[in-house]
Amino acid sequence: MATILADRSTWPFPTLLPWSVMYNYPPPQLIPRMSPQVPTDWPPRMSRSVRNWKEKTTSLAAPLNQLYIHVPFCPFICDFCPFYKIKGPRPEQTETYTAAVIREIELYGRNQAVADRKYQVIYFGGGTPTELSPGQLGRILNALRTSFDVAADAEITLESVARHLTAPGYLEACLQAGFNRVSFGIQSLDEKVRKAIGRTGDHVEDYPRAVEIAKRLSPNLPINIELLHGCPEQTTESFHSDLNQVIGWGVGSIDPFSYILMPGTPLYKKVLQGSSPQPRYGQTLLEQRRLARDVLESAGYRQVAAEMFKKNDRGWFSRSFYGAGGNGMHTVLPLGPSAIGFLDGTVYRNVCELAEYQRIVAQGLLPISAALKMNRQDVRHRALLLGVAQLFVAFPLVESIGERRSFQRWESQGLVERTETGWRVTSEGTLWYNQMQFELMPIKDCLSNLRLIGSLEDQYALLRNGSPLGDELMGMARNYGGVGTLALLGYRFFLRYARRLPSRWSDAVSWLGRPVRRAVQAR
Ligand SMILES: C[S@@+](CC[C@H](N)C(=O)[O-])C[C@H]1O[C@@H](n2cnc3c(N)ncnc32)[C@H](O)[C@@H]1O
Ligand code: SF4
Repeated sequence: MATILADRSTWPFPTLLPWSVMYNYPPPQLIPRMSPQVPTDWPPRMSRSVRNWKEKTTSLAAPLNQLYIHVPFCPFICDFCPFYKIKGPRPEQTETYTAAVIREIELYGRNQAVADRKYQVIYFGGGTPTELSPGQLGRILNALRTSFDVAADAEITLESVARHLTAPGYLEACLQAGFNRVSFGIQSLDEKVRKAIGRTGDHVEDYPRAVEIAKRLSPNLPINIELLHGCPEQTTESFHSDLNQVIGWGVGSIDPFSYILMPGTPLYKKVLQGSSPQPRYGQTLLEQRRLARDVLESAGYRQVAAEMFKKNDRGWFSRSFYGAGGNGMHTVLPLGPSAIGFLDGTVYRNVCELAEYQRIVAQGLLPISAALKMNRQDVRHRALLLGVAQLFVAFPLVESIGERRSFQRWESQGLVERTETGWRVTSEGTLWYNQMQFELMPIKDCLSNLRLIGSLEDQYALLRNGSPLGDELMGMARNYGGVGTLALLGYRFFLRYARRLPSRWSDAVSWLGRPVRRAVQAR
């Protein structure tokens, strides 16, 4: 263990890694398989204990129901990105996709429970939704409004890449169709970092131009920009320069995401095989998180959730992020291939392959591929872990003695503070939010979650070679599972033998839930 730095003795956790519970819980990659479902029979009936939990905690709920539409097309493919996408769709592909999503919306429209609630947030994500024409996007929006009760002032976000927004007439037509917020990724403006992470399909000049065009069309349009930090080859100076440049464009909100090395992506393979440098975790990630917080706050942005800062943006999507906030029981209706969602106590995911998705929807079935009907403990844990990412955990969500002790310890370390109704994550605590999540994670999740980091063989190789990433993983093992389960077992010892288990226990799992064979050869 070479690079444990001296000032780590003052860290609240022995390590800082970027893996987090951001999108959903339990991780959608790990929930059990399920076959397509008849629309009127979905979702399974909530268990009595979950119904009681929901009633008992309604006062905690912020009523923000969400419609998420996954558009699986991209103009170029980036090495770091784990999401389901197809490069450069043919025109007939976007048309058949549009028809299938509209059909899926109509199928849900027949389900009274789903159709009767009000939706305040609509998010077109991907992939790159702007691979569809404004006409196709508008047809999907109309179908949503016809089948569901969409609030008159709903926040309707269009995720994009900058170059699409600069195409003549394109953004104007989307705004006319009803979109009232845009979001696009930049990742980094530094060519060296862009090359290292495989974001070479677009040009940095497109970004300020897209902002300028959007502002000219609609001066108050909330524009959200996504940046990465912790990337291979990314220095803190380079990230600082990215932040300053983006702040200078005067956008409404900025999401500085910590780069996660995801199994199944080309970058994962390159890093594990040593042909790309490793991501900058530990000390550098901490520095970069701190920098983002300080620089954005002094520029007038307010942190509304982990890795999300807002200025001129209602930011409803961030507040309802995949159902997070309050008691975590808000609806997130997943539409399109690979979309993930939550409905009345069931967490689930759609099939990933476009052709399969279209075939199932054409049969009049909901294209569900995996689902978990949650029990009361699952639902509470979901609200607890997503609450940490939302920077507020109401007292009723904290139940066990171990959880209470964790919050008390974090209070003494300045990571959380008490309010009248719950624990607020402090400014210092925001830097460590995902380490807090791991400490709160039920032990049953401990080992299964390891496979989201990499195959057991790959993790063993990282540890054996004594790399910085291996050191961080070793540090994590000391804390993981709340009681240091892996430390008790001996992480390295565990990997040494467990890596030889049958592949369904030892392979990594990709964001799409597919097994990923090891990147390094067994020795
Ligand atoms: C669906 S993608 C982006 C939308 C659009 N296609 C683009 O590239 O600008 C949403 C965001 O997820 C973030 N993201 C993708 N892969 C990531 C990873 N491995 N770790 C952390 N964030 C990631 C990126 O910041 C990206 O902009
Ligand atoms: S980052 Fe955006 S453009 Fe790149 S592959 Fe992912 S979704 Fe597509």
